[in-house]
Amino acid sequence: MLQAAAKTLSVATTTSVSRGILLSIRHYCKKTPAKLRVSEAVSGAELGANVKVQGWVRSVRAQKSHLFLHVNDGSSLQSLQVVASSELNDPLLTFGSAVEVTGTLKKSPNPKQLVELEAEQIHIVGKCNPLEFPFKIKERHSLEYIRKFPHLRCRTNAFSSLLRIRSEATTAVHSYFKENGFLQIHTPVITSNDCEGAGELFKIEPSGPDYEEEEHFFSVPAFLTVSGQLHLELMSGAFSKVYTFGPTFRAENSQSRRHLAEFYMVEAEVSFAQSLEDLTKVMEGMFRSATEHVLAHCAEDVDLFHKHVTHGHREIVEAMLKNRFPTITYSEAINILNRSSENFAFPTDWGCDLQTEHEKYLVKHCGNIPVFVTDYPYDLKPFYARDNQDHPEHTAAAVDLLVPGVGELCGGSLREERLDLLRARLQQAGLEDTYSWYLDLRRFGSVPHGGFGMGFERYLLCILGVDNIKDVIPFPRFSHSCVL
Ligand code: 4AD
Ligand code: MG
Repeated sequence: MLQAAAKTLSVATTTSVSRGILLSIRHYCKKTPAKLRVSEAVSGAELGANVKVQGWVRSVRAQKSHLFLHVNDGSSLQSLQVVASSELNDPLLTFGSAVEVTGTLKKSPNPKQLVELEAEQIHIVGKCNPLEFPFKIKERHSLEYIRKFPHLRCRTNAFSSLLRIRSEATTAVHSYFKENGFLQIHTPVITSNDCEGAGELFKIEPSGPDYEEEEHFFSVPAFLTVSGQLHLELMSGAFSKVYTFGPTFRAENSQSRRHLAEFYMVEAEVSFAQSLEDLTKVMEGMFRSATEHVLAHCAEDVDLFHKHVTHGHREIVEAMLKNRFPTITYSEAINILNRSSENFAFPTDWGCDLQTEHEKYLVKHCGNIPVFVTDYPYDLKPFYARDNQDHPEHTAAAVDLLVPGVGELCGGSLREERLDLLRARLQQAGLEDTYSWYLDLRRFGSVPHGGFGMGFERYLLCILGVDNIKDVIPFPRFSHSCVL
C-alpha cells in the first residue's frame, strides 16, 4: 500500500517538498516490509513486494543449496512456500515452530502455487519439539485422534478448515436474516424458565464464601437457557420478524454423536404466520442461503472435508441444494415406517416420538434430501405448540426438518396464540402462575405466530458429512467430559 501511495505521489507532485516526502516514504518502504497475511501473499496480488509474513511451519524440506518451508497463519488452507538459501537453515526450524519471514514475493516456477516468498531473513519466534508435538509432519490424522488434543487441534489443517467454515457459516446465517428483514435479539443466557419443559436444565448458583446455600441469588431458581424462544416470542409482539443465535445448554446425560451440553442454536420467530409453510419457507431459505454462501466462500476448506474426510459427501450436498425439500405429515411418516421392512429398535406406533433411526430412514425414503415432518401428536409437544384441534388424531402444528446423516436439524411450531386454549394447557401442567407473563402476551395484541430453532453444530455435520458433533465445535462440552 505504501508503495502504491509513493507511486501516486510521484505522479501527482513535482515540488521539492513533496520530493522529500516521497524519498522518506521510499526509504520507509525499504526499511519496513509490509506485513501480509498468508492468504494475501498466496493470492499473487503483491508480486514483487518486500513483505513480512508470520505464522507456523507446516513443512520443512532442506536441500543442498536451498531450504523450503510452508508457513500457515490460519488465514487460508493454503500455506505460503518460503524459499531460502540453506545458510538460513536452523535446527530449530521444525514442523510446528512459529516464524517470522522477511523477503520478496516472487512468481513461483512450481505450477502448484502462484507465488513463493524468497526469504532474506527467517526469525524463529517460538520453537516446537517435533518429537513431543502430537501431530506429525505430512500425516493426515483422524478427527478422532486430534480430538484428544483440544488445546492444540486448531494447528491441524482439518480443524483450522472447520473453524474457518464455522465462522463463515455464522456470517451467512446473520446475512440471511438481515437480508430478510429480521431483527437480531440478544436473548439471555440466564433465565428462570424451562421453555421445552423437558427438565434438562443446568441450575445456576453463586459459589463463594459469602453465599448461603439456602438463598437464591436471583430470588427464584435460575438456569442456563435451553432455548431463547420465549424471549423471542415476547419480542415478536413488537417486531414482526426476530432471531437470535447464541449458546444453548442442555443437561442431557448423553454420550451421543448428535448431542452436546453446550451448543449454538439459531432461532427465529415470525409474527402473523398463518401456516407452517410460513416457517418452512424461512428454514429452507436459511439452509440454502447459508450453504451456498459457505460453498462459495470456503471452497478449499469444504473440499478438504469432502475429498479427504467425508469422501462423497459433496454429491449429497449438491442434491440437497438442487431439490425442493418435501413435506410429509407425522401420520404419513408413521405409515412409511410401518410399511418398511426395517427392524427398528424403537416402536413406530402412532403417538411415539420419532427416534434418530426413524428420522434417518425417512430421509433416505424421501431421496436423501432434507424433509419436513409436520403435525406431531399434541401430547408429544411442549405447552406452547398450537393445537390443530383435529379428531380423532389430536395433533399440534409443529414441524421438524430432518436431514441426511443427522436426523433432526430444526424443530419449530406455530405457537398457541389463543388465550383460553393456552391458559387451559398451562393450568393442566400447573404452570399458570409461572407463565403469567407469557399469558399476558396473549392478552395484549396477540397475533398468530410461530418459529423454529436450528442446531448450528448439526447444520455443520449436515453440510460437511462429519459424523461426530464434537468435531464441529471449538470446545465441546458433554457429560463426563474433562472441561478445558
Ligand atoms: O427441537 P428443539 O428442542 O427446539 C427448541 O428448543 C425450540 N424451542 C426451538 C424454537 O422453536 N425456537 O431444539 C432445536 C434444535 C434441534 O432440532 C437440534 O438441531 C438442536 O436444536 N439441539 C441440539 N444440538 C446439539 N446438542 C443438543 N443437546 C441439542 N438439543 C437440541
Ligand atoms: Mg426437537
